[in-house]
Parts: sequence; C-alpha cells; structure tokens
Amino acid sequence: MTATDLAAIRGAILAEIGAAADLAALDRTRVAALGKKGQVTELMKGLGAVSAEERKARGAELNRLKDEISAALDQRKDSLSEAELDRALGAERIDVTLPARPESEGRLHPISQTIDEIVAIFGAMGFKVAEGPDIEDDFHNFTALNIPPEHPARQMMDTFYLQGPEGGRPVLRTHTSPVQVRTMLSEKPPIRIIVPGRTYRSDSDMTHTPMFHQVEGLVIDKTTHMGHLKGCLADFCRAFFEVPDVPVRFRPSFFPFVEPGAEMDIGCSRKGGELKIGAGDDWLEILGCGMVHPKVLRHCNIDPGEYQGFAFGMGIERVAMLKYGIPDLRTFYEADLRWLKHYGFSGLEVPSLVRGLVTP
Ligand code: PHE
Repeated sequence: MTATDLAAIRGAILAEIGAAADLAALDRTRVAALGKKGQVTELMKGLGAVSAEERKARGAELNRLKDEISAALDQRKDSLSEAELDRALGAERIDVTLPARPESEGRLHPISQTIDEIVAIFGAMGFKVAEGPDIEDDFHNFTALNIPPEHPARQMMDTFYLQGPEGGRPVLRTHTSPVQVRTMLSEKPPIRIIVPGRTYRSDSDMTHTPMFHQVEGLVIDKTTHMGHLKGCLADFCRAFFEVPDVPVRFRPSFFPFVEPGAEMDIGCSRKGGELKIGAGDDWLEILGCGMVHPKVLRHCNIDPGEYQGFAFGMGIERVAMLKYGIPDLRTFYEADLRWLKHYGFSGLEVPSLVRGLVTP
C-alpha cells in the first residue's frame, strides 16, 4: 500500500464522519473504520507481513491515523448530541405558566372546596389540621366540655345515640368540639388547630340536615385573649369572602365550654333581595366562639392559671351557601350530577391565598 492509498482512505473516512447525519450513522462509520473488522484495523493486522523496518514507519503512520479518526469521531459525536438536545428541547418545550386545562369530567363538591379554602387561610395563619372520630363517647362530646349529664344542652343537641358494648352509649358527635379535648389531652400547648369534619344532629328541614360539617378552631397559649379571637376571625372572613373589609359584631351567647361566649355576625347588605357580604346595614350570624372555659382546660390537664385560649365553631355548609349562592342546604347531599356540574369546582385548581381561593 502506498502513502497515496492511505491518504485516500483517510480522506474517505473523515468525509464520512463529517457527513454522518445522526449518532447511529456515526457509529456505523466508527465500526467500519476502527471496529474488529474495520478498514484501519485490517491495515494494522497487515503489518505482521511486512519487514521490521517498514513495520515501524507504517505502524506509526497507522496509529496517527487511528488517533485522528478517533478525535474526529468524538468531535462529531459532541456536535450531533448537542444538535439532538437542541431539537428535543425545542420539540418538547412546555409552558409551565399555562393554567391547568379544564377537565371534561369530575368536579370537586363545594364542601371539599370550601374545606380546602378554609384550610388554606388558617394554614397561612399557622394553624394545623386535627381530626377525631365521628363516633364519640360521652366524655369527649359532653362531659369534658363542661356539659354534665343532666345539662339541658344535651337535649338542645338532638343527639343520635348508638348501642355500645356493656351498656355504653356512643354518640355521633354533635359538634367538632370534642377534638378540642382530644388535642389538649394529647398535645402540650401552645396549640393552634382547626378541625374540619362531619357532625350529626337529629334534625331535618330546609336549613338542617342530619349530617353536616363544621370547622372547629382552637388556640391555647399563655397570653391569648379576646383581641386575638376577634382579629383572627375578622382576618379569616376578609380572606374567605374575598372582600377588603368585613365589619364584625360579637353578640354574647351561651356555650357551656366557653366563657365569655359569643356569636359572631358579619356585616352584609340585602338591598334588592341580593345578599352581599361586607359593608351594609344588616348582619348575618356565622359562628359561635369564646374563651375556652377554665373547667375545660382542667378536664384536659391544662392549668388555667398558666394557659388560656379561644375556640370557635363554624358551619361549613352555611358559609359555602353564603359564598357560592347555594339556596338550599338539602341539595348538597342529593348526589345530583347536574347540581355538582353547576356548583362544583375543578380538582386541578388548589386554593391558596397567593393564587386565589376560587376557580374563575
Ligand atoms: N360547638 C358549638 C356548636 O356546635 C360551636 C362553638 C365552638 C362555640 C367553639 C364556641 C366555641 O354550636
């Protein structure tokens, strides 16, 4: 083989490398040149047949060619990989700022949506979510909450009783307040919880269903006072009803587990038959609240001389009806898909204070 032959082989291989359109073609070229039976490999094998003198010069030449081809292969591989990556990046680009695509089917029930909104708002204020059982015992639902056995509040509550083992009388919890007791018994203060959940009372008409939802709130700390209760609930109302200002009013009221106790009203207007939350000349009751009664603290092994706090309980259906203009409570539980399509929410839009609470 002459030097001219070798130059021709070199030129052909390098040209083929330069022309390789993709990584697969480039690899074929590599195998054809440097593979086990490749062109350059075969030339190396041929060295055995030539004189020692010639082998030295020719060997060095072939090694240089091999190095040159390897370098050219590497370079081409780099540029092909880069082009491949650019192409993929261009073709697979996704715009993460696009809003979630609307779903064709499946809606979140307004109760779920409302609970998510309430959790987002109180979550931003440092509350965590606590839960308790729907089937309660007398101690947690009543006694620890300062509602002793013959207390008239037990009749007020229209309780569903169940048959229990050994003459026990489990109750379907009549409010979420027993979770106050469960939390205070299992955690050390400071405590800051909300408790969304199902509650049960033997009651059924336009504005009552035997099962409904409440959200309880409990804050226990050393210096917590009525001012905190008021500020916290006023902030909640502004965020939940998405109005810059909501007048609030506290009317003294009786709940055995708070002292003082109050019902909170928010300002509204009913001009022209349309209810609007915010400034106005009318009031709307939305929740019960108060400072946790010292007897309740003592039942939960918390020293009222050291700790105090506030609690509130709010009907979730009630605030959902107010916010979303749902006129009849009973429709929440009729499982009518047309109703759900109308009042339901997209499951992809998670409510947050930053992104907004409601799906447009
Ligand atoms: N548990 C009361 C009810 O169901 C509401 C409430 C909770 C009142 C906490 C005061 C404090 O009506």
